[in-house]
This record gives sequence, C-alpha cells and structure tokens, in this order.
Amino acid sequence: MNWRNTRQGYGSISILLHWLVAVAVVGLFGLGIWMVDLGYYDPWYQRAPDIHRSIGVLLFAVLLLRLAWRYGNPAPAPLGKAWEQKSARLVHGLLYLLMLALTVSGYLISTADGRAIDVFGLFSVPATLSGLEQQEDIAGEIHEILAWILIALSALHALAALKHHFIDHDATLKRMLGTRHASINPEKE
Ligand code: HEM
Ligand code: HEM
Repeated sequence: MNWRNTRQGYGSISILLHWLVAVAVVGLFGLGIWMVDLGYYDPWYQRAPDIHRSIGVLLFAVLLLRLAWRYGNPAPAPLGKAWEQKSARLVHGLLYLLMLALTVSGYLISTADGRAIDVFGLFSVPATLSGLEQQEDIAGEIHEILAWILIALSALHALAALKHHFIDHDATLKRMLGTRHASINPEKE
C-alpha cells in the first residue's frame, strides 16, 4: 500500500492517523463523561482528568500533524451521489473543526487558573489565556456541548460509512480500512 493518498484511495499514513484519532476521540469522550461524576475520595479523582488532559494535548498535536499531512496529500474523491459527496466533505470539515475546538476549550478549562498542563510527566504546556471571568465554567459548558455534537456527528459519519459498505457496496469503508487494492474500480466492488 502507498504511504501517500492517491486519487483512488487513502495511503497508510492517512489511515493510521484516522483510526488513531477515532480511538482517541471515543476514548476521551467516555473518560470525560465518567470522570466528571467521580467523588473526591475516589482514587481516580485526580488521575482520570490527568490522563484525559494528557491524551487531549497529544491528540491536539496529532491533529495538527494530520491536517498538515492532509494539506500536502489531497484526499481521494468521495464516492456516491453528488449530494453524498457534498455532505461528506461538509461533515469531514466539521469533524476537524469540532476536534480542534474541543482541544482548545479543554485547554482553556484546564489552564483557567494559570496552571500548566502536565502531559504524562513528560513535558508541560503552559497557560496562556487565563483568569478571564468565569473562564473555567464557560469553557467547561462549551467543551461539554461540543463533545456531544462531535460524538453525534461521528456516529452519523460511521453510519454513512456502513451504508456505503452494506447498501451501496462501494469501496468507501474498505479504502479507509486499507483492505482494498488501489487499482480496483472504487465505484463498484
Ligand atoms: C476530542 C477531544 C476531547 C473530547 C471528546 C473530550 C470530552 C470530554 C467530555 C465528554 C467531558 C465531560 C463533560 C461533562 O460532562 O461535563 C470532558 C471534560 C473535561 N475535559 Fe475533555 N475532551 C477532549 C479533549 C480535552 C482536552 C484537550 C483537555 C485539556 C487539555 C480536556 C480537559 C477536560 C477537562 C478539564 C474536563 C472536566 C471539565 C469539568 O470538570 O467540567 N478535554 N471532556
Ligand atoms: C470519532 C470518530 C471519528 C472521527 C472523528 C472521524 C473523522 C473522519 C474524518 C475527518 C475523515 C476525513 C478524512 C480526510 O481528511 O479525507 C474521515 C474519513 C472516513 N471515515 Fe472517519 N471518523 C471517525 C470514525 C469513523 C468510523 C467508526 C468509521 C467506520 C465505521 C469511519 C469511516 C470513515 C471512512 C470510510 C472515511 C473515508 C470517507 C471517504 O472516502 O470519503 N470513521 N473520518
């Protein structure tokens, strides 16, 4: 398989980045929902948000890498009818925007009191914008709402991929799983 995207299919770097980000997003969502209800005396009370923030910061770095790779590596044309291709482009753009906005709002919650974010004890990300009025609460509200919108849109996106596979029988899902040979006609498979 190619490293780079071709006109017909995704290359291995794009595929790896897609699934890495998907696992991180779903994991962070589950962890986030679970950790905000932990009691003060729970052993995970400190540790879970530490992990959530650390993975979140790494995700931000991976997203920048992914967008840079995407910029130099145009995606293959979406398959399906014209309206499907248009909505796929729109949804993919929105998914990128939501992921970026979530990482930024998460950063603004975590650094509202001026503290840096310690990433797995490896390095720390300093606070920049802090001390705004009600920063922690407002960024927290935005973070929660965006997280739900991202998860709902990702579910719709995953359903669309399954529809392409099981109903239209085209190569959309296979080419993101890397299980399809690039020379095969993607419209029919
Ligand atoms: C795609 C990435 C992310 C997703 C899907 C996500 C998801 C979530 C969810 C679902 C919650 C629970 C919200 C609630 O019910 O109140 C949460 C809370 C939180 N997240 Fe994230 N998060 C992401 C990235 C980040 C990042 C990058 C940071 C920090 C650098 C971060 C910091 C926090 C903090 C501090 C809370 C606790 C907020 C509170 O106590 O109200 N998150 N996140
Ligand atoms: C949180 C989870 C997910 C996120 C954030 C996400 C995000 C994205 C984004 C941004 C793209 C566009 C890639 C590009 O720049 O060209 C994409 C493509 C794709 N995703 Fe996901 N994805 C997620 C989960 C899934 C799942 C669970 C499936 C399968 C069931 C899936 C199947 C696909 C397929 C097949 C494509 C290629 C679409 C095409 O060729 O037009 N994704 N995804």
